[in-house]
Amino acid sequence: MATERTPCGEPRIADAGRHITVYGWVDHHRDHGGLKFVDLRDRSGILQVVFNPTTAPEAHQTAQRVRQEWVLRVEGELRPRGGNVNPKLETGEVELHATACTVLSAARTPPFPVNEESEVDERLRLRHRSLDLRRPRLQRNLRARARFIGGLRRAMESLGFFEIETPMMIRATPEGARDYLVPSRVSPGRFYALPQSPQLYKQLCMVAGLDRYFQIARCMRDEDLRADRQPEFTQLDVEMSFIDEEDIFAVLEQVISEAWEEAGFAGRIRTPFPRITWHEAMDRYGSDKPDTRFGLELRDLTEVARGCGFRVFADAVARGGVVKAIAVPGGADLTRGRIEGELTGVVSTFRARGLAYLWRREQGWEGGIAKFFSPEELDRIAEITGAAPGDAVLMVADRAAVVAAALGALRVHLARERGLLDPDRLDMIWVTEFPMFERDEETGALAPLHHPFTMVHADDVELLESDPLRIRSRAYDIVLNGREIGSGSIRITDPEVQARVFRALGMSEEEAHAKFGFLLEAFQYGVPPHGGFAAGVERLVMEGLREENIREVIAFPKNQQAQELMTDAPAEVDPAQLEELGIALRPRPPSR
Ligand code: AMO
Repeated sequence: MATERTPCGEPRIADAGRHITVYGWVDHHRDHGGLKFVDLRDRSGILQVVFNPTTAPEAHQTAQRVRQEWVLRVEGELRPRGGNVNPKLETGEVELHATACTVLSAARTPPFPVNEESEVDERLRLRHRSLDLRRPRLQRNLRARARFIGGLRRAMESLGFFEIETPMMIRATPEGARDYLVPSRVSPGRFYALPQSPQLYKQLCMVAGLDRYFQIARCMRDEDLRADRQPEFTQLDVEMSFIDEEDIFAVLEQVISEAWEEAGFAGRIRTPFPRITWHEAMDRYGSDKPDTRFGLELRDLTEVARGCGFRVFADAVARGGVVKAIAVPGGADLTRGRIEGELTGVVSTFRARGLAYLWRREQGWEGGIAKFFSPEELDRIAEITGAAPGDAVLMVADRAAVVAAALGALRVHLARERGLLDPDRLDMIWVTEFPMFERDEETGALAPLHHPFTMVHADDVELLESDPLRIRSRAYDIVLNGREIGSGSIRITDPEVQARVFRALGMSEEEAHAKFGFLLEAFQYGVPPHGGFAAGVERLVMEGLREENIREVIAFPKNQQAQELMTDAPAEVDPAQLEELGIALRPRPPSR
């Protein structure tokens, strides 16, 4: 016979008089007027249970022993709480009058309070994650995450996609992070890589005619961790054949907004998502993931700076650099101390050598450098930046990339500081036409901005040999409130263009074949034009729940050092296992 069980969070006033059995953890317990009160909690909520020594002496005696987090089974009758309704509980109009109580498990005193949202050291939370997961915030987050993933699956299936699982032990994929490696016992000296994404497999699915592939895919990347990065994460991974960007955009807009609603996430997503090219994003916002919820756009003063009397500006332009500015509305309140301290600190993190500034007052321009500009130049600055009396103008002169990064970051900093971010706003946008290549700052070599299978923009193919850094690709990202939450592209299926891309990357034919030969070979047997996308599930859930850290939306996350504190992974292994794998460990370098 199946267990009879009423979830703790379910009883309502209409259930008064019913006899039920509940199971759960002791959330709170207290004695009051000879009665014992226990708030019993399970996943669904909390129910108040009353133990009366007169009517149920045995149950009362058991209840006298209970402590926080003990696990109980309680039978009894639901009764109205009358004048003592608790509006904070969904079940607050009723209480359970216990007739029987069984202790299913006693519990040690938890290392932190489970029944309240108090701040707890994160190490402790991660060490005792199963207790942490009992707390309301993570219960709520994981439930919303599950609903969101369910919504994604339903929406994908309704559009005719079907889910295909791809292997976890593979040859390395080209996503650009370090691989996690898995040694092979049967092929000593050889390694699998864990997938950084199912990229090559989903393209092979297209060759296989398995059009409209999707997968809720686990991905593993050994990279520096940040607030929105984990070594293991989940993607909604998509690939389609015989399509162009418009088809992919339409699918993702529909699927994400439907799942968003199903998860009950805050705010409504408006479709279609606005679009902006990479070039325009860099120009106006200094970032390829622009937060478009506020203004403070970058304006180009290079033309004014070129001949001006302020040497720092004129020299920067003469060296091929640019000068850009942000006008801060009402920025008259920004003091010199703040600009030269805090705000200069922000831009110097991005290697800008300084932050120049001017205030526009009713009576004219002010600031140490105002004297270097002619009245006409100052008028032009006002015109270009839109600065009105009462505003400040903040300027950086440097290489274009440094100026963009510095002012892009300053813009976001100022918006936070000045309360310009509307917490209810959701700005989901497409950023399109990413450059095909970037220069690796350390090695100076060309590297693909997305991956080497990204299609070159039709108008730019001829630049492959002459000016590869100017080539636009058919890659696109989704950016939500200034955070990249997904990316994809139309892929190269023309072997000649693919060979030219490998060549531009300095990759010999042999090297390309050694790395991706299986894909290139498969393409020789009839490849459909195709393209796809991958959205970071955790990042979407974080935004949906307004969480600042990705660890709050993952059941068992890793810490900043990629350790899982609960099980203490990674861990040393038995020397016999290493022996079997043919692996010998080098002596460890002395710890720093
Ligand atoms: P990309 O590498 O841009 O593209 O990844 C897609 C999205 O996955 C999420 N993401 C992460 N989330 C959490 N932690 C991480 N370490 C992490 N790394 C990435 C981001 C990101 O936008 N195969 C291509 C997609 C394609 O071309 O179809 C890919 O994986 O939200």
